[in-house]
Amino acid sequence: SPKGDPAILELPEWSTTLGQPVAANPYGMPSQFERGLVRRQSPGLTRVPGSSVSFTPLQGLFGMITPSGLHFERHHQGWHDVDPNRHRLMINGLVKTEAVYTMDDLMRLPSVSRIHFIECGANTGMEWGNVAVPTVQYSHGMLSCSEFTGVPLKLILDMCGADYKKGRYILAEGADGSSMTRTIPMEMVESGEVLVAYGMNGEMLRPENGYPLRLVVPGVQGVSWVKWLRRIEVGDQPWGAKDEAVHYIDMMPDGVHRQYTSIQECKSVITSPSGGQLLLDKGFHNITGLAWSGRGKITRVDVSVDGGINWMPARLEGPVLPKALTRFNCDWVWDGKPYILQSRAVDETGYVQPSYGQLRKVRGTSSIYHNNAIQSWKVAESGEVGNVQVL
Ligand code: MTE
Repeated sequence: SPKGDPAILELPEWSTTLGQPVAANPYGMPSQFERGLVRRQSPGLTRVPGSSVSFTPLQGLFGMITPSGLHFERHHQGWHDVDPNRHRLMINGLVKTEAVYTMDDLMRLPSVSRIHFIECGANTGMEWGNVAVPTVQYSHGMLSCSEFTGVPLKLILDMCGADYKKGRYILAEGADGSSMTRTIPMEMVESGEVLVAYGMNGEMLRPENGYPLRLVVPGVQGVSWVKWLRRIEVGDQPWGAKDEAVHYIDMMPDGVHRQYTSIQECKSVITSPSGGQLLLDKGFHNITGLAWSGRGKITRVDVSVDGGINWMPARLEGPVLPKALTRFNCDWVWDGKPYILQSRAVDETGYVQPSYGQLRKVRGTSSIYHNNAIQSWKVAESGEVGNVQVL
């Protein structure tokens, strides 16, 4: 109990001796007691781990930044630790001067650092028809937020004399075996937001996240954030590559496929209490979670504890940045009865995150991608928290 716990008087051995020397871990590691908080694969989700995904443990993170070692991974053909001295970026297509850049060339250029979320279009994709996974790590963990450092792609295209009149699209190509190529409309590049990035959270990108070079396309689904970026082509029409004609398309209720739905719409999720957790006691509990929108800033998050009948405003913790994760918190006193916890986000365009009922009316249940429905967590009398769906 907070009053008079005798443990405060029993000095542990370590507090009376000399501790470990500096640089015992030249690259710092988390405490041994935090070993359980790691990226995890979903058992049985994919046939081979080289073409798979590991999920960020959202349930154990604070604030808005994802530690680099816990940033989710999605590889179509495995990852490589690429030698930056041998890596090159080629610019070709509708440009006056085709060019090939080394990493040294790129890192001399004026750089910017921006905080943005990256969410795989398939995040929450298992939940379209029904409850499928037990925890927020698996339901929403293809989501991370980092500070990315790099050169605006616009600057590089300017240097190459891109034909912005005819060249209304770019193709980004990765160097791995997956032949990952994605079309991106030139307006996004012209806005200055698209970065050719080498930095993440103050250091070089991690190999799993595209070291030494990746594209950053704020607000757009993760697949367009091409890793191990080796080529940008300027063209006059979308390429219709395999990952935009066959994959990353949305099956609509009338059987038609919707293509090029790249923006990640406004979404939120309560990360604690969340599925798989246990409320140990009645009384005060902080309800906390994350909200984000590919269209700009989050303006409001409401929380419900009765499955969406009544809503109360959550506190948005700053900084609230466009196309970045926004942390929210909400006070709650649990009286030991069953509850259904939900969060609902609104972005600066006025768009309100839909319920499952609303989303399915428009999108059906056959899609994989772009599920931004309101997530429900059921708190049982036992204190156990589980995944449920509320229309
Ligand atoms: N780029 C290349 N070259 N190869 C890939 O397999 N996967 C894409 C994208 N860029 C991929 C890629 C997908 S589907 C996603 S969701 C993001 O990278 C994941 O980025 P991350 O692994 O840094 O989380």
